[in-house]
Amino acid sequence: MKTIDELLAEGVTGKRVFVRADLNVPLSGTTITDDGRIRAVRPTVEKLAAAGARVIVASHLGRPKGAPDPAFSLAPAAARLGELIGADVAFATDTVGESARATVAALTDGKVAVIENLRFNPGETSKDDAERGAFADRLAELADVYVGDGFGAVHRKHASVFDLPARLPHAAGDLIATEVGVLKKLTEKVERPYAVVLGGSKVSDKLGVIDHLLERADRILIGGGMAYTFLKAQGHEVGSSLLQEDQIPAVLEYLERAKEKGVEFVLPVDVVVSEQFPDLKAKAPTEHRTVPADAIPAGFMGLDNGPETNKLYASKLADAVTVFWNGPMGVFEHPDYAEGTRAVAQALVDSSGFSVVGGGDSAAAVRILGFDENAFGHISTGGGASLEYLEGKTLPGLAALED
Ligand code: 3PG
Repeated sequence: MKTIDELLAEGVTGKRVFVRADLNVPLSGTTITDDGRIRAVRPTVEKLAAAGARVIVASHLGRPKGAPDPAFSLAPAAARLGELIGADVAFATDTVGESARATVAALTDGKVAVIENLRFNPGETSKDDAERGAFADRLAELADVYVGDGFGAVHRKHASVFDLPARLPHAAGDLIATEVGVLKKLTEKVERPYAVVLGGSKVSDKLGVIDHLLERADRILIGGGMAYTFLKAQGHEVGSSLLQEDQIPAVLEYLERAKEKGVEFVLPVDVVVSEQFPDLKAKAPTEHRTVPADAIPAGFMGLDNGPETNKLYASKLADAVTVFWNGPMGVFEHPDYAEGTRAVAQALVDSSGFSVVGGGDSAAAVRILGFDENAFGHISTGGGASLEYLEGKTLPGLAALED
């Protein structure tokens, strides 16, 4: 993979450089609630601009349906990027149309533009190679060089991630180089004890990574919505908690394999439950209580780890030399259900081991809960991407930068 410094050494002054970033930030209306992904690509954008490149930043945001949708506009992200780099950032209101062409043509050396959400064009995410290729051809007309720096999207075989680098001279940005360097530490010669905390709503999203971790990790701590499928698999009633009944056979198999391999699987011993899912906008206090994880009453749903679980998980993380964490432990967006996630983040801060927070949601959670990012070994910008990397899959956006 060519690095950005190698690219700069070849000279980029006056060249139109297409930076595929991941500016898929959480929004509340048009307000960005966590700008971590924009800050993460800033060094690459600044380096290129300082070297006199004409920088075109492109990204997806959310999952619009292949057509313009104002709710998913990148305009707020472009404005934030401008604030961060302290310079005007032009904004094109389309991806490869008149606005994009005119905006790029108006760029002078060292200036930056953002083009509108790539997923406003159906070619970006198409499964049809020809349709994706046609969109990549039009994107290629905008630029002379491609820099891949959207680590959060490298697991997507999308036009701007996979097809476009094949059409332009290309290099990897600093963010991708850092992310890959850190994830290598978790796949090659990992230092032990190696503990992994997995949360989030769906077990099905984590099957591949659990499979991989059963061969490598010493402890796997489970939380979040996916914990209830594990509890149910162990024969406990889970009330109206999130449940993926069809995943129970897979979960049972994993628990069995963990036993055989001596991998410790740790599940919540108590949980915070409520009869209703909280209103995440109003954040008003809710009716809730803590119950043992094997005694969730009918009609109640588990929304967070309880205090005993928080203590247990902190003790399981205290002596870990390497920790990977993906997925919140509860509905951290509401103050009544944020403690489990906060407790895991605190345990990582307190530990002297190397901790990697992987994932859009858990990364956003540590920042939204007010933790200092520097207290963690690394906060990844990629959720699905880091999981698929750990699974050992070939990631299209990395493969495309290889040759
Ligand atoms: C993410 O948020 O994980 C990345 O931006 C990828 O987004 P996607 O899951 O919509 O492809």
